[in-house]
Amino acid sequence: MSHDCSHEPSTAHIFPQQNPEDEAKASVRSPDRRRALKTLMQGATTVFSGMALEGLVVPAQAQGMGMMGGMMGQSAAAPIQPGVFSRPMPIPSQLTGTTDSAGVQVYELKASAGQHAELVAGLRTPTWGYNGAVLGPTLRAPQGKPLRFEILNGLDQSTTVHWHGAHIPGAVDGGPHNLIAPGKQVTVSFTLNQPAASLWYHPHPDGRTGPQVFAGLAGFLWIDDGLDARIGMPHTYGVDDLPIVIQDRRIGEAGVLSYMPTMMDMMGMKGDHFLVNGVEQPFVEVPGQWIRLRILNGSNARIYNLAFADNRPFHVVASDAGLLERPVEVTHLVLATGERAEIMVDLNHMQGKRLVLRSNSSGVIPELNRMPMATDAYDHSQFDLLELRVGSPAGKAGRLPAQMASIPTLKADAPTRRFVLQGMEMRMMRGMMMGGNAAAPTGVSSGPGGMSLGVGGRDMFAINGTYMNMKVINERVKLGSTEIWTVANDGMMGHPFHVHGTSFQILSRDGAPPPAHESGWKDVVLVRSGETVHLIARFDQPAGDDHPYMYHCHILEHEDNGMMGQFTVI
Ligand code: C2O
Ligand code: CU
Ligand code: CU
Repeated sequence: MSHDCSHEPSTAHIFPQQNPEDEAKASVRSPDRRRALKTLMQGATTVFSGMALEGLVVPAQAQGMGMMGGMMGQSAAAPIQPGVFSRPMPIPSQLTGTTDSAGVQVYELKASAGQHAELVAGLRTPTWGYNGAVLGPTLRAPQGKPLRFEILNGLDQSTTVHWHGAHIPGAVDGGPHNLIAPGKQVTVSFTLNQPAASLWYHPHPDGRTGPQVFAGLAGFLWIDDGLDARIGMPHTYGVDDLPIVIQDRRIGEAGVLSYMPTMMDMMGMKGDHFLVNGVEQPFVEVPGQWIRLRILNGSNARIYNLAFADNRPFHVVASDAGLLERPVEVTHLVLATGERAEIMVDLNHMQGKRLVLRSNSSGVIPELNRMPMATDAYDHSQFDLLELRVGSPAGKAGRLPAQMASIPTLKADAPTRRFVLQGMEMRMMRGMMMGGNAAAPTGVSSGPGGMSLGVGGRDMFAINGTYMNMKVINERVKLGSTEIWTVANDGMMGHPFHVHGTSFQILSRDGAPPPAHESGWKDVVLVRSGETVHLIARFDQPAGDDHPYMYHCHILEHEDNGMMGQFTVI
């Protein structure tokens, strides 16, 4: 069993009782760090007034003790609501594109604002979306076929569309250098020659990815190669093959999305409403047979420990970037931000029953996060996400295959590169309290309704001691080479590390082989506090100095505040 699975879900303690000082002492590993954390906590008030001087509006209710409590991970005292499951889970429409005379598959995408979605029952929320109010269509892309995307930016600020997980050149990757100005349309062409996978797309402007994704911009991009159907897996969209985007949002009483209302949120914007495909705790009717859930953690910052309420086993069949070699049976699955997993659940003979998918966060979060101020009540609890209502079997039933993809063994042919992730506890002091580089946000950061306090572009989280700088190429990789990357987490929070332009395999976690469900193709890896992970990847797509690839933490507030670097592949 993997170490993900070694912690039995414990009873929820909804209001964390631990003394933050004790927890800090227990969790810090060096006197230096202990001193740093202590100073940081004592200095927190200074930080806030410092930030206020920079023109940030801190809502009144967030000031004072309530906020300090929040800093300590104590005040997010929202009672944990069991799921109500009163509304159906939306199934995003599929966009299969049209074929032009040259045989190119053409898709139209429009990012726009000004529409209102009912994320939470009875409240209309201004959101952003692709081709609709919130999220975006599931793009179905045939493997190996030339694709063309006509992308219109209908927002009032620049954006990009990044194809997360795609093996495509830097020039079309949709990273921070591919800005699309408001009102402009761009054409992006590429061909996906990689195994079938559940990829996704989302904005990636430097310093503003967090607010734009939070506003609603994200969608699935599925590469189809027909293998799933050939080996009998469920593949009927919306019936036994379901897109599942899990996100948390903070929503004010008026229904307005509340982004970064407190400075604590810079450690990762978490919410207290749990949405699946843009609706809070929905239900979905599913046939009484094997079903396949393609799950994306599309949250800005929250890591989930997915499980069924009755702890039934399920099978992981795919990781981020493709099918595994064989299904892996688990009872729970940690899914960090940006990660995807495809799972299969056996619903034969379950007709009439209801199954609840939830997050048993209390079972893992203490291990993931040594920083009490960066966890909230939900991280110490269990909460419901989605109810499956099992009906009669429908259509052709899929089955769990014994054998799926074949995954090659890669051999490195270049020196190992090292990446050290450095969290906020030191940076906060150097960068903010000591008046270091707390640069002005990089651009317009307001979200829908102008209510979001975008706080990007500050040097808070580092990789190898440096912060994201659009003008600096941090690493240069030789085109066609296979490299081992060592990623070490020197901070107190877990950081999901993501690499553009390729898929990687995890060679080891702290010297041990990765758990079986992580032994396939990946493009995000959660690196726990104090952990060292070895990755291997081949870099066979080009990215020059004008359009380099990114590597970064996929907690969007970390990415937006420094924890990103650029690399070329030439
Ligand atoms: Cu999902 Cu660089 O992004
Ligand atoms: Cu990406
Ligand atoms: Cu991070």
